[in-house]
Amino acid sequence: MTTTCKAPSATGVVPLRFEPYRDCSESELRARILAAKRDLGDSLLILGHHYQQDEVIQYADLRGDSYKLSQLASKSQACRAIVFCGVHFMAETADILSRGEVAVYLPDLTAGCSMADMADLESVEAAWEDLAEWIDPAEVMPVTYINSAADLKAFCGRHGGIVCTSSNARAVLDWSFARRRRVLFFPDQHLGRNTARTLGIPLDQMRVWNPREPLGGNTPEQITASRVLLWKGHCSVHQMFKPEHVTRFRQRFPGGKVLVHPECMMQVVDAADLVGSTEFIITTIEQAPAGSTWGVGTELHLVNRLAHDHPDQHIHFLSPMVCMCATMYRIDLPHLAWCLDNLAQDTPVNRIQVPAETANWARIALQRMLEVK
Ligand code: 13P
Ligand code: SF4
Repeated sequence: MTTTCKAPSATGVVPLRFEPYRDCSESELRARILAAKRDLGDSLLILGHHYQQDEVIQYADLRGDSYKLSQLASKSQACRAIVFCGVHFMAETADILSRGEVAVYLPDLTAGCSMADMADLESVEAAWEDLAEWIDPAEVMPVTYINSAADLKAFCGRHGGIVCTSSNARAVLDWSFARRRRVLFFPDQHLGRNTARTLGIPLDQMRVWNPREPLGGNTPEQITASRVLLWKGHCSVHQMFKPEHVTRFRQRFPGGKVLVHPECMMQVVDAADLVGSTEFIITTIEQAPAGSTWGVGTELHLVNRLAHDHPDQHIHFLSPMVCMCATMYRIDLPHLAWCLDNLAQDTPVNRIQVPAETANWARIALQRMLEVK
């Protein structure tokens, strides 16, 4: 490959440094990515989440929402390496589900999820102990949104619990209530509340659990009366969508439909016409007739791509503010090229490897999720 990029030369076992990739031109980075993909062939699978920027997602072999990406990872044994264009919890999930037979890499280790960071194992274990003083833990099903660290998935595995995604949260709550009287749902209070409401659970039987307050900020009576305990976490991107944005859209486009992600707050979900995961949002628009008008409440890169891919429809971003997932955005061409070059010269970098004990318990909770219909 001819390139003027001053990337360090391969010196046997020494991994290539990242810094020179920052100075590479876009065309050099693209050439490197294509060359590495060619060299690695079928041993490499690049998975990409729908929120990735266009310049990155185009190199993904397969893309999806969190549920689809989990399924793909669990069936990925044909390759030797997965490079995950997404965020940390997604790469961890892929590592857990691919059972160590496939090595998983995240091109930038700082690509996290601010919502996932809102619940940690220590706080969840403390909450579990606090609850046990007032209610029987055997009647509480721990449910973690897939946007969480592997050790929280393992906590659910150990306690008979389960993982959910935005596309199967209702089925997972059905599964949970068929087995236990109450649910402790973390870390996204909005997905938990929006989903529990679809099961007809009244708001006064849902309590927010604030990990910074004694008994989560609740009285013992409120805890004993509760069916759902909602961890006080949220998505910093989806909390930017407000009910007034829906009102404004409807005033501007009276025939238009509002389509939002269930991480949005309840008042936005209530005001919307349709609610679902990123895959659902994409499929809904793909199947809509030409001339349809949409106000879409989810991450900006995906909405811009939908607008670009469906010029026959009128697709509007629901919020007047820019709502981008800053951490997804950290996976860029320089990081992808650097990660792939290192894989191709057999000096892999940024492997995500969940410790075996954690992975085993987390896999149990994830398998339960994959088996729920
Ligand atoms: P999906 O599973 O709907 O793609 O959502 C993932 C996510 O992080 C949304 O913020
Ligand atoms: Fe996390 Fe929100 Fe980004 Fe999704 S959009 S990865 S929930 S911060």
